[in-house]
Amino acid sequence: MDFFRGRRLRADPAIRRMTAETELRPQDLIQPWFAYETDDSKYKKPIGSMPGQYQLSIPELLRRAEKAVKNGLVSCLLFGIPREKDPQGSQAYAEKGIVQQAVRALKKEFPDLYVITDVCLCEYTSHGHCGLVRGEDIQNDPTLELLARTALSHVRAGADMVAPSDMMDGRVAVIREALDEHGHTGVPLMSYAVKYASAFYGPFREAAEGAPKFGDRKTHQMDPANRREALREAAADLSEGADLLMVKPAGPYLDIIRDLYEAFDAPVAAYQVSGEYALIKAAAERGWVDGTAVALESLLGIKRAGASMILTYFAEELLPLLK
Ligand code: PBG
Repeated sequence: MDFFRGRRLRADPAIRRMTAETELRPQDLIQPWFAYETDDSKYKKPIGSMPGQYQLSIPELLRRAEKAVKNGLVSCLLFGIPREKDPQGSQAYAEKGIVQQAVRALKKEFPDLYVITDVCLCEYTSHGHCGLVRGEDIQNDPTLELLARTALSHVRAGADMVAPSDMMDGRVAVIREALDEHGHTGVPLMSYAVKYASAFYGPFREAAEGAPKFGDRKTHQMDPANRREALREAAADLSEGADLLMVKPAGPYLDIIRDLYEAFDAPVAAYQVSGEYALIKAAAERGWVDGTAVALESLLGIKRAGASMILTYFAEELLPLLK
């Protein structure tokens, strides 16, 4: 009989491990955290739609980081929720803003933890938009300078890498220029190059208190229908100085991750966003799926598609399993 016997190489755990083409490693996973500006050092507020995730005071953030680092966490991504919001999002680029304080505290306690910051205005503006607003219009060019100031303030506080998520045109160029002008030529820039206007960000907007007060993000984030446009966005960001490209969300956009991986020689990152996390957690809580197994499989799929790093709220939880 002449047929393919694929089962020979699946017959026992050793040969399965030896023939595995993809592997999740601790350094593949980047944990996002939400730093909350408060005088209450014990502040640790659960995010209802993201079980296991919290808004954290800086001392609580440090406690959390300590455990994660012990478990092998290599890198985190920071978001900030400021006490005061205004139309200009001025706390985004304040020297003593919440993210700037959190970065200083984290780098002081854990110098080896690689701290990435999300650069955007939406958590800091009273209207919840990613840029300056005039009427209903989210103004592109006037926003650029504020994004550059934000990124620079993060780097001055000690951020190892900045990740602009605002999707204004030209922001990679102005941020790169601002960092270089101030001598930070060695700080890499990970661009949320291909960020879709996605319903999967819903839980994040509760977490970061950054839902737009009117309108939506469709004039700057990409249409989920589009694939070829992703290549244009990515090429533009690379030419403007991005070192790494990110695709977001991850799971529903595996084709885009693969496209970027094949089209460019820059590393590709993917963001498994709040809604992807929430869906898995919700089904697991009901006992409908094995949450840990589904989480691991979803991340393996993202890696197999071509992502060399994955931003995921599962990082802390899964690290002990990857050691
Ligand atoms: C914007 C930003 C968002 C996310 C990361 N950065 C929200 C948005 O664009 O509306 C979403 C992350 C997630 O859903 O986990 N600062």
